[in-house]
Amino acid sequence: AKVGNLIYKGKAKDVYETDNSEIVIVKFRDDITAGDGAKKENLNKKGFYNSIISAKFFEILEEAGVKTQYIDLLKPGYMLSKKLKMIPIEVITRNIAAGSLLRNFPFKEKQEFEPPIIQMDYKSDEYHDPTLNDDIAVALGLVTIEELNTIREITLKINTVLKDFLKSRGLLFPDFKIEFGHDNQGNVVLGDEISPDSCRFWDIETCDNLDKDLFRKGESGVMDAYIKVASIVLDEKDKK
Ligand code: C5P
Repeated sequence: AKVGNLIYKGKAKDVYETDNSEIVIVKFRDDITAGDGAKKENLNKKGFYNSIISAKFFEILEEAGVKTQYIDLLKPGYMLSKKLKMIPIEVITRNIAAGSLLRNFPFKEKQEFEPPIIQMDYKSDEYHDPTLNDDIAVALGLVTIEELNTIREITLKINTVLKDFLKSRGLLFPDFKIEFGHDNQGNVVLGDEISPDSCRFWDIETCDNLDKDLFRKGESGVMDAYIKVASIVLDEKDKK
């Protein structure tokens, strides 16, 4: 595929057209942001690592029967993807209480959720990503009730598949954020990325963060943590 015009610029990724109108190239940049973009930095090679981690998760999910926009990693940093019309909802799944959930509600730190909590936030820097309920999401015209149910069903499956995989590699999966879009046929398909920018990963022994929380807290070793996640996730040890 040939790289064409830039059609979308996000806070950490760019989307380019290709010569095929149904296919785009997603470029993972090195920019890292927090607080609706208020805190910004550039982390050398972050795009490289996030793209290979995301590609691996998308491959695992496709094998488990989850439809994703992923086609191929052209080279680290550049993902060939099906073009989707993205739905501006951040679908957050929580297995263990952390982050904003603890700031907003009286949960206990590290409280476990079984079944997991699925939270949907309206993706909008202007409105600071407020949490939706079903009626608001439908009234805003973001999705139908049927699509909300489909999204919840797919999300629970994604959680089970990835949580089990990560556990086998010594990582806890407290929470993560995913985004969906509509493909040309109107199907709801998983898009965006699944990386240390959008997930919490904790070492199972120490509960150390191996994710963007290090950046949010202004700690050092952010890139080292991302590289560690890549080596754990891409380890071919259990390949048949
Ligand atoms: O900050 P909070 O605790 O709500 O984040 C929950 C999960 O969703 C975390 O894994 C975080 O990385 C992810 N998230 C995200 N993008 C946002 C908000 C949260 O990827 N805008």
